[in-house]
Amino acid sequence: MVTTQGTTQNQGSVDAATRVRRCVQDDILSRGIMAKLTPTEFIWHDGTMIRWEDAHVHVLSHSMQFGSSVFEGIRCYKTPAGPAIFRLQDHVQRMINSCRIYRMELPYSAADLVTAACQVVDRNAIETCYVRPMVLRGYGAAGMVPFDSPVEVYIPCWPWGEYLGHGALENGVDAGVSSWHRVAPNTIPAAAKVAGNYLGGQLVKMEALANGFDEGIALGPAGMLSEGSGQNVFVVQGGTLYTPAIDGTLLTGITRATILTLARDAGIPVVEQPLAREVLYMADEVFLTGTASEVTPVRSVDRISVGTGTPGPITRQLQREYLDIATGAREDRYDWLTNVRAEAATAVAT
Ligand SMILES: Cc1ncc(COP(=O)(O)O)c(C=O)c1O
Repeated sequence: MVTTQGTTQNQGSVDAATRVRRCVQDDILSRGIMAKLTPTEFIWHDGTMIRWEDAHVHVLSHSMQFGSSVFEGIRCYKTPAGPAIFRLQDHVQRMINSCRIYRMELPYSAADLVTAACQVVDRNAIETCYVRPMVLRGYGAAGMVPFDSPVEVYIPCWPWGEYLGHGALENGVDAGVSSWHRVAPNTIPAAAKVAGNYLGGQLVKMEALANGFDEGIALGPAGMLSEGSGQNVFVVQGGTLYTPAIDGTLLTGITRATILTLARDAGIPVVEQPLAREVLYMADEVFLTGTASEVTPVRSVDRISVGTGTPGPITRQLQREYLDIATGAREDRYDWLTNVRAEAATAVAT
């Protein structure tokens, strides 16, 4: 029993709690959801390549103390023309915007960061990977005011498969609506991709896993649909594609923008508007989008089947087109791919 002071009186329940935790962890591991880092050799750090094992920060760096680390998540795909990074310029621009919101002065241009991302993938000689640029406030400031801490940039990359577990892209995942809400507009800016924002995401995700779901979908402060812990949400109803409007509670996803473009061009009607929770239970199709999750079908929400419980035709069509463009199987008609070797070579040449 937990008293109002938060102490556990019944020691017998500790063992039971540990058993439950282990069960949940085994279940999560067997579903392949808990991805461990796979080290690569080099990390780009402020213009030089350092070894993976040498990328340390001080425990008292500002970002460690206060969560002030801006970052991005980007995917690099193997294509017939060599590795290519998907929508790299857009990710770099979002990172620059996040820095502007937090008054972080980046000593690099967008073009510098594009080249650096390509250099680190090229140097590590991997073709399919996840790229994670990070802008940290380092060691110096003692309190919240960050200006005595230097701004440092790291760009690691590593191999990363299906974010939502084995078979997620093919078969879909089970989602649950979270008891945790997203932050309200004008509290912590949802459009900035900053480490501190992900405290809420962790609560959503851990709760979902503990309840046997693969992912959690959070509502905004007004009780309307917002986003997953690391994804935007889409719903198909009667042939129309719906997604919550950018309302200050969710990240302006780059995959979200990609899907909106592909859908409009395919003649699928698209609506961005506030959506009530129950829309998820009535939908013909639901899917999640994100760089890590790509386009992942949702087969159930709160144990209610979505449509027939299998990925629907519009989800399949958009998922296929997205992956085909990203992997070079279909023409890159929007100029979304940056060829890693060509871009890295420009840096060497200059
Ligand atoms: C909270 C959150 N929402 C949405 C997304 C999807 O964004 P993107 O498609 O740019 O990866 C992400 C992924 O980074 C995220 O962390």
